[in-house]
Amino acid sequence: MRILVLIHSAFAMWNIPAEHREKLAAAFPQHQFLHARDDREGLAMIPGADIAFSRHVDRDQLAAAGRLRWIHTPAAGVDGMLYPEMVRSPVVITNSRGMAADTIAEHAIAVTLAMFRRLHVAVQRQVERRWAQDEIASGAPNRSVAGSHVLIVGFGAIGRAVGAKFEALGADIVGIRRRPEGGASRRVAGPERLHELLRAADVVVICAPQTADTRHLIGAPELSIMRSDALLINVSRGQLVDEAALADALRTNRIGGAALDVFEDEPLARGSPLWSLPDTLITPHTSGFRPDHWDAATDLFSENLRRFEAGQPLLNVVDKSAGY
Ligand SMILES: NC(=O)c1ccc[n+]([C@@H]2O[C@H](COP(=O)([O-])OP(=O)(O)OC[C@H]3O[C@@H](n4cnc5c(N)ncnc54)[C@H](OP(=O)(O)O)[C@@H]3O)[C@@H](O)[C@H]2O)c1
Repeated sequence: MRILVLIHSAFAMWNIPAEHREKLAAAFPQHQFLHARDDREGLAMIPGADIAFSRHVDRDQLAAAGRLRWIHTPAAGVDGMLYPEMVRSPVVITNSRGMAADTIAEHAIAVTLAMFRRLHVAVQRQVERRWAQDEIASGAPNRSVAGSHVLIVGFGAIGRAVGAKFEALGADIVGIRRRPEGGASRRVAGPERLHELLRAADVVVICAPQTADTRHLIGAPELSIMRSDALLINVSRGQLVDEAALADALRTNRIGGAALDVFEDEPLARGSPLWSLPDTLITPHTSGFRPDHWDAATDLFSENLRRFEAGQPLLNVVDKSAGY
């Protein structure tokens, strides 16, 4: 079989390193690996490929792909790849969901502790060489994760890892899934309970995928019913939160703060009001970074390739109609 290893040159993060390409070629000498350095080369090579290991296969590439049967992406989100022609096509997509779960869970804990302990204020005052004990201790109460209520919207690989870490610190957690298994329980609820659960949450962590159902899941109506000291964390995709409504809620202290890793448009524009809003912590889509990303990504692809060869069920098959 011919396997196209596509490089998505626009984002350095998705450039599969040479050593990992070589490792794949050595582990699977029975296959021919084609290596495209950009979308144009990918378009030229894809007609001969049976499999693509790529962050993205665009419309033109799909149209040119005569024998493509399976795409594996080293990312968890497939939102950019589910255009109508792809959804209709018989090409199977598998993703790397779960790979960044622990890393993102640590990030969610890190930003919560930073905001609860007001470290973001301390760092600013340190830069100014100011002893801001009163401001940090009394401006907003220093809060504890223990005993807090944490709502996790999207209770898949990332959401469950986030929940486990919050529980270990003594928080009371509840996760929302699209299809709560075996009916709702105390810890798992369906999307219809979003508003009810939002009212009680000290921390809301957004971990659901970007789909037709989740655009602006958190907008002005949701922000208006959240607690005035609630912290909103978004580690999934920017489109799930209405950024204009969020900026308004933060500006008017309608909610307590936000820690945002993802944005409606990335990179976040220099002119965005989010940069300078009170109690807002911004990270540049780095919550999922782990140093051994490509080791894990090529291991998962290799396991799936062995399964593909053996005609066994693949891991992490994307439901193209559901959008994740
Ligand atoms: N910031 C980053 O660097 C980064 C890195 C990796 C991933 N991500 C993002 O994180 C997302 C989640 O990743 P994952 O690995 O946790 O995916 P996953 O294992 O597929 O989990 C997705 C979860 O969201 C739930 N869900 C789907 N639609 C929903 C809705 N309308 N309302 C509430 N919950 C809904 C699913 O419900 P069911 O359990 O019922 O199916 C599932 O529990 C990815 O799609 C990606 O966009 C971001």
